Amino acid sequence: MATRDAPPPRAWRGVIEEFRAYLPVTPRTPLVTLLEGATPLLRASRLGRHLPGIEVYLKCEGQNPTGSFKDRGMTLAMSKALEEGSRAVLCASTGNTAAAAAAYASRAGLPCFVVVPAGGVAVGKLVQAMAQGARVVPVEGSFDEALRIVRESAPRFRLTLVNSVNPYRIEGQKTGAFEICDALGRAPDVLAIPVGNAGNITAYWRGFVQYHRDGRSAALPKMWGFQAAGAAPLVLGHPVERPETVASAIRIGRPASWDGAVAAARDSGGGFEAVTDEELLAARRLLAVEEGVFVEPSSAAPVAGLLKRAREGRLPGGIVAACVLTGHGLKDPESVLRTERRPEAVPATPEALERVVDEVLAVR
Ligand code: F0G
Repeated sequence: MATRDAPPPRAWRGVIEEFRAYLPVTPRTPLVTLLEGATPLLRASRLGRHLPGIEVYLKCEGQNPTGSFKDRGMTLAMSKALEEGSRAVLCASTGNTAAAAAAYASRAGLPCFVVVPAGGVAVGKLVQAMAQGARVVPVEGSFDEALRIVRESAPRFRLTLVNSVNPYRIEGQKTGAFEICDALGRAPDVLAIPVGNAGNITAYWRGFVQYHRDGRSAALPKMWGFQAAGAAPLVLGHPVERPETVASAIRIGRPASWDGAVAAARDSGGGFEAVTDEELLAARRLLAVEEGVFVEPSSAAPVAGLLKRAREGRLPGGIVAACVLTGHGLKDPESVLRTERRPEAVPATPEALERVVDEVLAVR
């Protein structure tokens, strides 16, 4: 059973096999994996010109199998669900959890139900869940309401809940912190990360603390969590009834891992800040045109946050900062059309093309 989904002998083996010593698995835990993890940690020197005096790295989590960091937690949650004899899995989602749950449930051979806020999920994510055989249930309500429903329903209907309130999700996601330390040979001074339901900041902090305790990294980073201004309960210090932001992934008013996020910020000497939708979209664009890294709006939050601090003279010099870019840009193509114009057709002649080339090169 434990050899289920065993990877080819010399390949990256997925986060459970690579970090087995740090995860709650036994030799008998069946492995459900899509070989997630091992995502690039890119040095961002062009972007860095907008962030003078600091060294910036981008942890490109959009390069996971389903295009977001959720895969790290889902491999473990689904493996444990199978180990525990689950008959089906359930989650609420703003989209990425749904896409990951659908994929890993397929891999495990388990039915999957995803409850989403109607009209509140980016098209790429909705399509992923549909394509991968999950039963998608849109509800007339917010993500927070969807989460309340599934938390109540999971035990009643004997379904395994695979939201980050499932402790295995957080355990799997902490491997992102391990990879950053392994790649840098140290922990960064600052870990900048978007915060929605607050599972990931909780997970990263746990990962950094465990590596530090084991002597694998000498220091601990400050955890800087960035929320969208219209959905910033942790910045405000109280839940937000009607969260609103272009960044649908983090349109969340009552984060489930509130306490974990607060502890991460407090114990690391970090904190929470809000960035506006305009700042999110500008940072998304900058990442794409300056670095070739295309992310969804939520994922631009840490970069928007660092840029804001730089503008306001609140960026300490000489630091190494790692930004967790949580999800791929293809997940939310519609958000791009908010800042970019669709190209117009020209005649099929070299002359027409030349006019375009001249126009573009003239402004550079
Ligand atoms: N970035 C992306 C792309 C996300 O999808 C999410 C959360 C976050 C950041 C925030 O992470 O919730 O751990 O603080 N997405 C969840 C979902 C809510 O349903 O896909 P968090």
